[in-house]
Amino acid sequence: MCGIVGYIGNKEAFFVIIKGLKLLEYRGYDSAGVALQNGTLEVYKKKGKVAELEAFVMEQKHDGAIGIGHTRWATHGEPNDMNAHPHTSMHGLFTIVHNGIIENYAKLKTDLTEQGYVFSSQTDTEVLANLIEFIYRQDEAINAEMAVQLALSKVVGAYGIAVLCSAENDKMIVARKGSPLVVGLGNGEYFVASDASPIIEFTNQVVYLNDEDIAVIKRDSFTLKNVRNTPVSLKISHLNLEIGELEKGGFEHFMLKEIHEQPRTIEETFRGRLRSDESEIVLGGLINIFPKIVKAERIIIIGCGTSWHAALIGEYLLEEYAQIPVEVEYASEFRYRKPVIRPTDVVILISQSGETADTLAALHLAKEKGATVLGICNVVGSTLARETDAGVFTHAGVEIGVASTKAFTAQVTVLTMFALKLARERKTISAEDYSLLVRELSQIPEKGRLILQSNDKIKAIAEKYKDAVNALYLGRGYLFPVALEGALKLKEISYIHAEGYAAGEMKHGPIALVDDNLPVIVVAPQDDYYEKIVSNIQEVKARRGNVIAIVTEGDKVLKEMVTDFIEIPASHPAVAPLLTVIPLQLLAYHIALMKGCNVDQPRNLAKSVTVE
Ligand code: G6P
Repeated sequence: MCGIVGYIGNKEAFFVIIKGLKLLEYRGYDSAGVALQNGTLEVYKKKGKVAELEAFVMEQKHDGAIGIGHTRWATHGEPNDMNAHPHTSMHGLFTIVHNGIIENYAKLKTDLTEQGYVFSSQTDTEVLANLIEFIYRQDEAINAEMAVQLALSKVVGAYGIAVLCSAENDKMIVARKGSPLVVGLGNGEYFVASDASPIIEFTNQVVYLNDEDIAVIKRDSFTLKNVRNTPVSLKISHLNLEIGELEKGGFEHFMLKEIHEQPRTIEETFRGRLRSDESEIVLGGLINIFPKIVKAERIIIIGCGTSWHAALIGEYLLEEYAQIPVEVEYASEFRYRKPVIRPTDVVILISQSGETADTLAALHLAKEKGATVLGICNVVGSTLARETDAGVFTHAGVEIGVASTKAFTAQVTVLTMFALKLARERKTISAEDYSLLVRELSQIPEKGRLILQSNDKIKAIAEKYKDAVNALYLGRGYLFPVALEGALKLKEISYIHAEGYAAGEMKHGPIALVDDNLPVIVVAPQDDYYEKIVSNIQEVKARRGNVIAIVTEGDKVLKEMVTDFIEIPASHPAVAPLLTVIPLQLLAYHIALMKGCNVDQPRNLAKSVTVE
């Protein structure tokens, strides 16, 4: 959470920073701020969106070719002007922006208070600014980068920071531990950002900082070392990102664009991997490690939020086809609950961003215990992608809507290919089933396009249920995680309380909620569970609940039985999540829009959760 942008060069820093912050707003949007160096250091900050900061600063002095900016997702201290970043140290020497959490801030604050420091915000970041300044003022031999380095050695927690020093005003100091930072290398100019999107317009040459890297950036130089003073070799990466990916492309919202992109992004995910002759699935990133995966005694799949739902589908696929025991874990639980992890385990971390703090901590734990760690990740260059032993990129393109859509279907596509490949290598799938599933998977984009044509119908259904206070989502088998995902989408963006449940579990609790006010969304295509789910629908109807069912095209029985239905093309049950989730994404989108909610940036959420 929180987005950082920095610029040093010859352009007007303000415009580079504001544009960059807008691209990073998905990381948090509680407040925004900017500090601009032009002889003096001007700091402007405001509660609310980047656009509000922009309007405010446009009326002030905003020149300067060095600057740092921040868009905040509040952790310490409520979202207000005072707690907004940048934070300046008490004597005005250091101004910093920070993404992450300083866990020992209370102790550091007490120590600094004893030294006469007074604080104007409730943030952990101001503590760090003052700590840097305190160290700097101890000894004339200590320059700005040394002060930052010494301060960071006293810090417990996570940080991505950009620091300006008013007494050494030709440089910017940046450092990271746990929170991502990328430096773009221009011609006589440098760009700093939490991800590469603000940089791509200016240069495609970047350096991804690793944990504990610290860099001193001047207009004409860039020096990188480790906070513990060990030298670091500079690895320049080339960005492969189109600016068009960062725009709405004619859609009203990023989320709607991303929902509609899915037929194409699923194709991108299996391009070059799923052979049209059905002969072999090629997952390039796993080639060398596959012999080890085949011998794994157990697979543990870990993620958060939507990525966790994808993991559940992965479990069903891997157990059914590769016949290997699978456990699915929330990263936030796994990292602390002292799990049994053996060197014979394969641990798969799923993360769209590749920066989710809990998922990265789970990765480190699994690695420490000697397991083989694999990543399924969307962002090339992200920490997860760099720190796993091997992995598969989802290639869904940049996902900007905070509620994940196309990243989910891309993750499920990767998991399906992975399960089929593993099943084939372990000889646990028949040739017929393998060919059938490869064919079914390759047909998903076409069927997805047909589902998107139901948009108007789904909008009309949304109109009927937009005032609901609660909603229940039900599914069985592969579609239970889809029910969870449908409920999460509605909850995230429309703020309607929604629960996803395994349909067979309904009778153990949720059925008590059913009355004529409760919409019950049932994912009910004609699969092996069909008869059972029809019975569940009857149980809801008997209690006057409104059933909205996702049904297979031509299903006359359910069309008669339910209040509303959305048809989807027939598919094999194992690939059905990729289709059935689309109407649920659209339903949530339209309901949220009708309720006047900010679909792309729902309240209190952020896309990349880099704090625990
Ligand atoms: C946040 C986002 C979700 C996402 C989750 C995990 O909560 O709002 O959309 O599913 O983080 O993110 P990751 O990047 O690890 O997949």
